[in-house]
Order: sequence, then structure tokens, then C-alpha cells
Amino acid sequence: MRYRDWRLWLTVGLALAGWPEWVRAEAPRGADALYKQYCAECHHPERLGAMGPALLPENLDRFPKKEAAAVIAKGRPATQMPGFETQLSADEIQELVKRIYTPLATPPVWDEAAIKASHVIHHANATLPDKPVHAADLMNLFMVVELGDHHVTVLNGDALAPIHRFPSRFAVHGGIKYSPDGRFAYMASRDGWVSRFDLFGLQMTHEVRVGVNTRNMAVSGDGRFVMAANTLPQNLVVLDAADLSLVKVIPVVNPKGERSRPSAVYTAAPRNSFIVALKDLPEVWEIPYHDKGAKESFPIRRIELDAILDDFFFDQPYRHLIGASRTAASGQVIQLDEGRKIAAIDIAGMPHLASGITWPYQDTLVMATPNLKEGEVTVVDLNTWKTIKKIPTLGPGFFMRSHENTPYAWVDVFFGPNKDAVHVIDKRTLEIVKTLRPAPGKTAAHVEFTKDGRYALLSIWDMDGALVIYDGNTLEEVKRIPMKKPSGKYNVSNKINRSAGTSH
Ligand code: HEC
Repeated sequence: MRYRDWRLWLTVGLALAGWPEWVRAEAPRGADALYKQYCAECHHPERLGAMGPALLPENLDRFPKKEAAAVIAKGRPATQMPGFETQLSADEIQELVKRIYTPLATPPVWDEAAIKASHVIHHANATLPDKPVHAADLMNLFMVVELGDHHVTVLNGDALAPIHRFPSRFAVHGGIKYSPDGRFAYMASRDGWVSRFDLFGLQMTHEVRVGVNTRNMAVSGDGRFVMAANTLPQNLVVLDAADLSLVKVIPVVNPKGERSRPSAVYTAAPRNSFIVALKDLPEVWEIPYHDKGAKESFPIRRIELDAILDDFFFDQPYRHLIGASRTAASGQVIQLDEGRKIAAIDIAGMPHLASGITWPYQDTLVMATPNLKEGEVTVVDLNTWKTIKKIPTLGPGFFMRSHENTPYAWVDVFFGPNKDAVHVIDKRTLEIVKTLRPAPGKTAAHVEFTKDGRYALLSIWDMDGALVIYDGNTLEEVKRIPMKKPSGKYNVSNKINRSAGTSH
């Protein structure tokens, strides 16, 4: 028996030594080895993103796991993401899915050296044209983000026709911002790239990667600085708006050493400051930039709150902040100069204040906001802070838009079975006067107006989507331009003049 055991082990031993390839193929392969072998080259060894996007839970937060598994198996057509279903078993794909939704053991390092090293100069300022290379009115240009294939379309708002289309970084989000003169556009991508685009020359000028996961970005009212709010690492990055060179990194941490993710940064032009909303601490920060001599200072004014706020709205003069928290039953009004709560407002569910708009109504001023959880639009009197109307809609909405020159406010029904519907509300009566279904079955979202308020541009949020243009008065369709999952669109004039009908 012993003799036979010995022979058996020898056979096994020889087999292992002789056919290491075969042994390896049969052994279960762990996520580490799989990731290193198949993914690291394009997605970065630490999953921070390289040629392919970052694969971290923070970056994939709106991307369902099932879809990730499908992308890994089948790849993405017309992109460099290959399918792996012939190389990897279903279990191995599941291992990888589990891995990419697991946070890194230690926060990624993306420090000043990494930011500086990522800086790209596509076209130095001295080489830019001094007049537009196109005949369109700069003030009535739109930039339309097409998420489907990561492009941005520049559209002439007078001719209602595109004049240029260019590839963006992966997943541009948080809104395109403009310099105060409207000449330069700034955009941030999910994975931390900030890009500066010249609307005279229709070309990218500078880019820099400020972090690994970025929420959004704002341009100072004086046009000198860009501030980006990062979730990974948890900080704020100040850039020189003229060339995106690094000015300062501000960690998001309170004096007790408690850290927080920023939820967004806003530019409060009338106050010469940035306002930063925090996601994990009950405070908001105001960071002034008006001190011309002290480029490096950016002092932080901390305003302590009763509760963590998840969503924000500022009145037009930036005197008040209205905030809502997903857990509280009411909204809070904070007087910014005094830094204290002055009222509570009755908004149930999960208002999408970031998309709130204002208009004069009777003898007062009102703010209206869609709701991410309830099928209703809430209208609040900005003088009394009372909710004066709850307008029932066909489902929760995401974006609400209007313009000073139109009697109507448009709100989408982004969530649920009626996602293809858009309501038109008469601002004078607070009643829905029309419900449009521009592409039955497909999500209709995000309306933006031309400079004069005459036309409303709406997105069909689909790979096989379109920009649908309506006459803002007759509510009739004027034109349809095919696009690949168009999401936000940003009109230069409405943004830089801070139209009350749009977010800034
Ligand atoms: C040859 C380069 C390359 C390789 C290898 C590669 N990817 Fe990708 N991957 C990409 C690119 C590029 C994209 C972005 C595609 C697009 O534009 O939508 C992507 C997208 C993805 C996405 C979708 C991310 C999102 O936010 O939409 C997932 C998930 C993903 N890859 C996982 C993997 C995994 C896991 C592996 C290894 C098994 C892998 N990839 C290997 C290039 C690659």
C-alpha cells in the first residue's frame, strides 16, 4: 500500500511539474489575479482609471451590478471595452463584479504631484483665435452633453442646428459652466477630469485630472478660479481658470478632524464666494475668493446646521439657502450672512432643490421644485416660506426649467412608468396645461431655453435619442435632432446671466 501511495504521489507530482499551464487553468482564479491579468492594463492597477474609466464603487454608484456583469461579458460595442465571455466563466465575472464594487482598502492617493503631472495643454492661450471661427451668436450657443458615446455637441441656438461635435472625457456630469464673458466652457467628468473648451476656436485648451471621483465644479463669479468638489479623495481643488493650473487643494475636514465628502460646490457670484455642501457633516462652507492679493488664501467660513443637508437651492441674490435632508420631514431655510436657520418649509419626500426655479407670482416671488420621490411639484412663497401649492404630476421628476420670457415651466417625470411624459405648467395659474410625450416609452428629460426664451430644447434620454425642440408659446414641436443619449444642455446667456428659469 505504501509503495502504491508513493507511486501515486510521484505521478501527481510529475503532472504538476510537467503541466503547470494545465494546473493553473483548472485552479479557481481569484479576483486579484483576474483583475491583474485582464483589466488592470486599461482600468489602472488600483482601479483608478486610465484609458478605461475608474472601476470603484464611488464611480459606479449609479451603475447596476447586473449591467456591469453584462458589460464585462459582452463588452461595449463601438468602444475599446472588449467582451470577456469566452475567457472568463460566469463565476469569474461575478468575482470581478464583486471586486469593482468593493472600496479600496486605503483611499487612493491623488495628491498635488499627481494633479500637476496630469495637466495637459492642448492649445496654449497665446495660440487661440481672437475672433470666433464660426458665425453663431456666442451668447445663444448651447453645449449638449451626449452621454451615450461621451461627446459634446455645440449647437447654434438661433439656427437650432449643431455647429460642432467633439469627444469628451468619460461621463461628463454636474453641468457645464462658462466663464463670465461666455467664451470658455468648463466641464468635469465623473473620474476627475476638468476640461476647458474655447467657444471661439471650438477646441479644447487645457485639461487636468483633479481627483479620482468628482461630484461637480464651479467657476468663480470673477472668472478667475475653478473649484472642483471631489469624493475621492475627499477634497476641494482650486484651479486657475485661465489654464487649469493648480492653485490649492483644500481637504474637507472639520477642526475635530472629522472628514466628509463634499456633495457639491456652487458659485455665489453676488457674494464673491464659493459655497460647498457637505454630505457627511451638518455644515456648509463658504469660501470667498474676492481677496485679489491673496491667491493662496481661500479661508473657510463654516456654517453649522441642525442636520446634514442633501440638496440645496439658493435664492437669486444668494441671501438664503434652502436645504432638504432625505431623512427630515421638512426643508430648512438658512440665512447665509447670519449663518442660521430662519424657517422650516413644508416639502415632503425628496425635493430636487438643485433643479428648483423661481418666478414672480401675483405679488410675490415663488420657488418651485420637482420631487425625486413623490409625484408632485412643490411651490413655495419666498417671502413667507409657506408652501402655497403642491401640483400633482404623473410621477417623481428630476428637472424643472423655465425662462423669464415664457409663461410656462416645464417639468419631467423622470422616474416610473410615465418617464416619457413632460408636464407644462402655467406659471400664472400653477396648473398643468399640457402633458407631452415626445417619444413614447423613452425617458424625456431636461428642458433648456434659447437665450430669448422662445424655444424649449428637450432631451430624449436614449442611445437612439434626440433633442426635441418646441416652440415655447404654442408648445408645438419645431424640430428633432438625433443624438446619443443627450442629457444636460447649457445655454451660454442663460447660464452667465443666471436666468431664474435654470440652475447655475
Ligand atoms: C482594452 C482596454 C480594456 C480592457 C482590457 C478592459 N476594459 Fe473595461 N472598459 C474599457 C473602456 C474604454 C471602457 C469605457 C467604454 C465606454 O466608452 O462606454 C470600459 C468600460 C468598462 C465598464 C463600464 C464602466 C462604466 O462606468 O460604464 C466596466 C464595468 C468595465 N469596463 C470592466 C472591465 C473589467 C472587469 C475588465 C477586465 C475583465 C475590463 N473592463 C477590461 C476598456 C477596457
